[in-house]
Amino acid sequence: MRRSRRFTKRAARGINQETYVHERPDLGLMMMGSPADPAPSLAVADGRIVEMDGRRVEQFDLVDRFIAEYAIDVERAPQVMAMDSLALARALVDINVSRQELTALFSAATPAKVVEVVAHLNVVEMMMALQKMRQRRTPANQAHVTNWKEHPALLAADAAEAALRGFAEEETTVRVARNAPLNALTLLVGSQTGRPGVLTQCAVEEALSLRLAMKGLTSYAETLSVYGTVSSFLDGDDTPWSKGLLAAAYASRGVKIRFTSGTGSEALMGYAEGKSMLYLETRCLMMVKGAGSQGVQNGSISCIALPESLPGGVRGVLAENLIAAALGLEVASGNDALASHSDIRKTAKLMLQLLPGTDFITSGYSSIPKHDNLFGGGNFEAEDFDDWLVIQRDMQVDGGMEPVSEDAVLAVRERAAQAMQVVYREFDFPPITDSEVEAAVTADSSDDVPDRDLAADLAAADAFLDGPRTAVDVIRTLARNGFEDIAERVLHMQRERISGDYLQTSAIIDPHFHVVSAVNDANDYQGPGTGYRLQGSRWQRLCDLPQARPPEALLGDDGDNGGLVLDEVGSAEPGGEDEVVIALGPAFGTTLGRTLAGLSHADVLRALMAGVEDEGLTARVVKIYHSADCAAIGFEAARVSGSGIGVGLQSRGTTVIQRRGLAPLNNVELFPQAPNLTLESYRAIGRNAARYARGVSTRPVPVKIDNTARLRLIVHTTLMHNREIEAIRTEGVERRPVALQVAFR
Ligand code: 5AD
Ligand code: CA
Repeated sequence: MRRSRRFTKRAARGINQETYVHERPDLGLMMMGSPADPAPSLAVADGRIVEMDGRRVEQFDLVDRFIAEYAIDVERAPQVMAMDSLALARALVDINVSRQELTALFSAATPAKVVEVVAHLNVVEMMMALQKMRQRRTPANQAHVTNWKEHPALLAADAAEAALRGFAEEETTVRVARNAPLNALTLLVGSQTGRPGVLTQCAVEEALSLRLAMKGLTSYAETLSVYGTVSSFLDGDDTPWSKGLLAAAYASRGVKIRFTSGTGSEALMGYAEGKSMLYLETRCLMMVKGAGSQGVQNGSISCIALPESLPGGVRGVLAENLIAAALGLEVASGNDALASHSDIRKTAKLMLQLLPGTDFITSGYSSIPKHDNLFGGGNFEAEDFDDWLVIQRDMQVDGGMEPVSEDAVLAVRERAAQAMQVVYREFDFPPITDSEVEAAVTADSSDDVPDRDLAADLAAADAFLDGPRTAVDVIRTLARNGFEDIAERVLHMQRERISGDYLQTSAIIDPHFHVVSAVNDANDYQGPGTGYRLQGSRWQRLCDLPQARPPEALLGDDGDNGGLVLDEVGSAEPGGEDEVVIALGPAFGTTLGRTLAGLSHADVLRALMAGVEDEGLTARVVKIYHSADCAAIGFEAARVSGSGIGVGLQSRGTTVIQRRGLAPLNNVELFPQAPNLTLESYRAIGRNAARYARGVSTRPVPVKIDNTARLRLIVHTTLMHNREIEAIRTEGVERRPVALQVAFR
């Protein structure tokens, strides 16, 4: 069979490792607008909803009942249902309509109505709306912190690093369920070491999760899943009421709670009932609201690849984030599970949440390498930290992550691992040795830390869970063993549990233990000049990448030209026929000493002259002061050359062979990529120039091509060119070409 080489090459790319399918509404494989989705409708009698989205109250399923009872503002609903959906969609992007007004409207609409409104928006409009509807003004981010060996020193070090990097929440989980108490404990101590106030959770089965919280080891939970059809609920032995009860149990113990939902779960479970993903997700979000949760992690979450297999899937996922925000919920907006093999596709999707900002841009950024991520790998991971930081700086957008120095990271990693070493020792857990601490400080992953005795660790975990010890004993132990600062922070986290301020919508805790939430940091975006602006000290902080340097540092003094001595000996005049004139840029050999390729000016000039002499001609050297332009320099060289052939050489190494009579930009041979020129190239250029002067047939000089040269060196080029221009200014633009006597020391 005949195959196109280009199609074959593309077939191997990440983007073609994914699955794309046509819509199949009967299987729930449709993002929006399934034929089985109901049209919006509502009837109210005696203050109760008696018809919703085409169903009479007698036909309501459990989900309908829950939503009708708890999630819709019945008083206002008839008015909102009568409003034009397009007008409501326009209000979402209208800067003159406030978030509060819109939340009130969306809280009085049925699921089908909400979907009908949002369906009018394209992705840019959804982003505009999300920017306004997000609850907390300041965006933040959540990290995943796990490792395959469940090594406590490594987990503590990674938790500390993630905190230092600015994550407001950290989530861990388990490989072996029984390890949960130790992982939760380690995440708590590690995170508080890196930065005070980080909220932590351990994603495990709900009863265990609640016990960990009640021991003071975790401060939030987000594992309460809801589904848009009754059958999916019953499959998990749950109802909206049971989830609501569980949420209340957490909250009553001072634990922040958010639910989890996301498009695709019902189709995946085989119970989509032919409905579209977004319609079902809207039902989920209304249940979350009805259950009294302050927020939700959504954006398809673990199912993300399923909507992505469908047309409009990524748009639909943005739509679900927007709907959650419009209902007044905190949103941790997904971007956690691996969503693509393609970096381009992953980044493109991320922009939909990163640019408008959400309460947590990812609901779990894998702060460790993929193979240590017990959440099944991550979409963005430790290797991508710098990419994220650069994108924030490029866009002047706050993605909740801060640049850090290697030294600072190593320091908090060490301290966290040492703190855990002390806790393990004092609690009579299997010891963490000094060499385990040391390995954890510098480790990339589990592969770099010693194996532990899993059976012994699990026995310790069981005893800890069933024993009397709580976070209070952790605090006491840390305080008695030289870790008063960390003890103080862990104590603060317990106080937060009692005051409960961080149960407010979208709450996070800043490093001074001030709660920052939609109450005291409410998103007030209403167009340019309002809302969160990345500026001032925070912007300076995010600009300050360790890799960024002052421009001067790139160039240095550069006085060293490799031993070239240039003496000016009067004005440059035309010479004899057996010469090639080499004209140098204004800063050549003086304020600049090297080309972009790092070759010294002495070596370059020697090579060029030697090339001319190889062909039996003489090389005469002149200096140009009125222009730094390569073409102008070459033009002058040719003008004063007795043979009519000249070579123009900029200080950065860009070179041209020119013939008298040709227009400046029409040359014999041009070598525009100085970084790719070697001394051999310069010698060959000299030879060719001489051959043109002799009038013999000549093959162009071959040069290697490196397309990244401009990308890598454009800043250096700019700085060198500025110095070249500076030399013109110093010498005076009127100054005519001068003859040079050349010596090499
Ligand atoms: N809908 C509902 N629950 C989900 N989870 C992941 N994705 C979804 C989704 N789209 C659940 C997991 C786990 C919790 C962390 O989130 O099953 O219980
Ligand atoms: Ca999460």
